[in-house]
Amino acid sequence: MDGAPMTLAEGKKLPEHLDTPPRAPGGRPLVGHMKALLADPLGLLAALPHLGDVVELRFGRTPTYVVCSPEAAQHVLRNPDHAFDKGGTFYENMRSIIGDGMATCPLAQHKRLRRLAQPAFATSRMTGYARTIQAQLDAFTSTWRPGQTLDVLPQLRSLATRTTLATMFRRREFGPEIAGLRQAVTDFIDHQTILRMIAPGLNRLPTARNRRYRKSEARLLRFLQEEIIAYRRDGIDHGDLMSMFTTHPEDDRLSDQEVRDTAMTVLLGGITTTALSQAWALHQLSQDPALDAEVAGEAHAITLLDQGRSAAEVMDQLPLTRGVVAEVLRRRVASWIFTRVAVADTAIGSCRIPASAQVLLSPYVLHHRPDLFPSPDNFDPHRWDGRDPHRTKGWLPFGAGESKCIGYELAFMDLTLSLAHITRSWRLQPCPAPVRPRPRMHLEPHGLTLRLADRSPH
Ligand code: HEM
Repeated sequence: MDGAPMTLAEGKKLPEHLDTPPRAPGGRPLVGHMKALLADPLGLLAALPHLGDVVELRFGRTPTYVVCSPEAAQHVLRNPDHAFDKGGTFYENMRSIIGDGMATCPLAQHKRLRRLAQPAFATSRMTGYARTIQAQLDAFTSTWRPGQTLDVLPQLRSLATRTTLATMFRRREFGPEIAGLRQAVTDFIDHQTILRMIAPGLNRLPTARNRRYRKSEARLLRFLQEEIIAYRRDGIDHGDLMSMFTTHPEDDRLSDQEVRDTAMTVLLGGITTTALSQAWALHQLSQDPALDAEVAGEAHAITLLDQGRSAAEVMDQLPLTRGVVAEVLRRRVASWIFTRVAVADTAIGSCRIPASAQVLLSPYVLHHRPDLFPSPDNFDPHRWDGRDPHRTKGWLPFGAGESKCIGYELAFMDLTLSLAHITRSWRLQPCPAPVRPRPRMHLEPHGLTLRLADRSPH
């Protein structure tokens, strides 16, 4: 036995015999593993499953437990004993940037927010969103020219900003103000360094970067408040997310503040992750012309949307494209880490976790376990042939449990449609500069530029 027996949240007794999780080697006095995490975060994390299902890292005084097996991750995310809550440095950082919305608030407030926002993401609304996304893709890619070199991330951030705004606010057309909204997203992304995740207090310092973000945040909040007033006034379902966030019975509805927080989360969280995943997908296709041609071969299916078919029917006709998306979300998962905090002494499997400890979840670690995904460093969309990623053990790009990404179906569809749309008309050729994964708050393809070529050369 290791120490005194502990009591779980809700009075359940913990087993008497619990192990202390192994500590990762290489920690230094005072700073612990901070230096190693800053130097090579992916390398540090990928080595941990060899040590155990739960492994301790140290950043200063608070212990951090990294969850390395799918069972342990499911336990923390599904949280059957209510022993974990949103918290830890990832969420402290997020809260200090975007406030206390659905994604960041404690679980006690989360259930109600989630219930009220969920109808906006119902499967029955996906066909409408698919049409909106399709129209944005048409407009956006119509400005591309053969031979043009794309600075991929800014381009795709622009595209994701447009499609997200259009799925959120169908009531109106966007004019020049889209540049201001895009700036707010860019300023948000500037905040997403690993250092800020470890030391969220940095967001409160009076630096030029923080002031710039607060200015664009204020502009975004003003815009959202005006929209909330307009949506509440007309009360019409415009087939978008905002109509659903603002239409509930008087006595059971999201307050203006809650709608603003939810909209901020969707804008800032959804845009970044979607753009990064699209960028990784285009990078992968540019590396493999045969796969690229195969994906283009099924892309004509997107025209079915114009013929009145549903989003589900179109998705059915894009099996390989869906495989590419599932594989991108595995190998280059945007949300490579996020955290929880233990609210009581508890256990993960046979490992003792003390109250207040931080728990670090890393889909990246799980997605690179060779026992779950053979040859994990190979990009192989065919590993998803006939297999539903959403039912695959250890595939957790959207998390799991009550806080699983509310936009997962929309995001998966958006990624599939945009890939089909782009490959149908364009071949993307790699540029010589090396592309490397850069883990910040999300996993970025650093240095990615691609050259556009017509799919059918004249
Ligand atoms: C590839 C794209 C995306 C990825 C990889 C992704 C990933 C995630 C993950 C891992 C979480 C759960 C974090 C946790 O449990 O701590 C999450 C939550 C969330 N995501 Fe996404 N997301 C994506 C796109 C989107 C989109 C498009 C939207 C909205 C339109 C969205 C809205 C949200 C919201 C509101 C939450 C908080 C849910 C809750 O706490 O109940 N996400 N996302």
